[in-house]
Amino acid sequence: MDIAEFARRIPKAELHLHLEGTLEPELKLALAHRNNIPLTETTAEEVRDTYTFTDLSSFLAVYYPSMEVLQTEDDFFDLAMAYLNRASAQGVRHVEMFFDPQSHTSRGVQFSTVIRGYRRALITARRSFAIQGELIMCFLRDMDPSFAMATLMEALPHRDWIIGVGLDSDERGNPPAKFAAVMARARAEGFLVTVHCDIDQQDSAEHIRQAIHELQVDRIDHGTNIVEDRRLLREAKSRGLGLTVCPLSNGFVSDAMKTDEIMQLFDAGLLVSINSDDPAYFGGYIGDNYAALAKAADLTREQLTRFARNSFESSWLSPRIRDHFL
Ligand code: ADE
Ligand code: ZN
Repeated sequence: MDIAEFARRIPKAELHLHLEGTLEPELKLALAHRNNIPLTETTAEEVRDTYTFTDLSSFLAVYYPSMEVLQTEDDFFDLAMAYLNRASAQGVRHVEMFFDPQSHTSRGVQFSTVIRGYRRALITARRSFAIQGELIMCFLRDMDPSFAMATLMEALPHRDWIIGVGLDSDERGNPPAKFAAVMARARAEGFLVTVHCDIDQQDSAEHIRQAIHELQVDRIDHGTNIVEDRRLLREAKSRGLGLTVCPLSNGFVSDAMKTDEIMQLFDAGLLVSINSDDPAYFGGYIGDNYAALAKAADLTREQLTRFARNSFESSWLSPRIRDHFL
């Protein structure tokens, strides 16, 4: 078995995956047809051609309008099932999946429609594909914190189906501290907390500092710019904070995969895991991300195995179940 095949097959956990970022062009067309939504594109190739961007905001400008085709509980179910099927084929045994309720409720789709579809997919996939998972509800940081708070309240009747909360979308001018009150309330309600500190954003290191010190996060999504601040790096290590990096995504939202930075953090002993972020848009699922980093950094099987181990160690599985995977 060559190293790329090993990278795809090794049992792993995925901790940074946006369900809405798994909308493949073929499914987008099928859902548009099912829901009578007119699209300008008529073939998967044409849809794929619209999936082009140079940074985070140009990506988000394509990402949100695409979601219009997601209308019914079955649509959310089908989206999640397609992802879970592919992820299981690339070695994922446990997944903690982000979803963006505000991008649906803001266009008239009920919160319960979204979460019921995703939840049903998780239950079905556990039986069909031997993969298990949890949901993480993300707040959109480019919307008002009062909308995030209202969304948190709306989620409370479904709290048993949500393991934690996250913060995503456009980071410019939207630092973690702006959401400190919402995150404190989420924590008081029993949710774990993670925050996107996307790569190479304005004030990246300061955003990481706020996430750790002011939001008391349990994990950081991306967070690669922590290499710029040795003190923060040491602190993240001593707190055992996981960093969920996304090599292929990095190449789209910035100018490179950030191989050197990822390896510097990995070699320093931080709990760095490899993930796919928005695989339908960024050219590959999790195994492809493992394989891409393996090629770029000339990784050995032992190093890949440690990345996979990090993914379980920094997961939010209970210690008993986590030990079963390690
Ligand atoms: N929403 C979906 N993918 C995202 C990313 N990579 N960064 C911020 N928000 C997102
Ligand atoms: Zn992300």
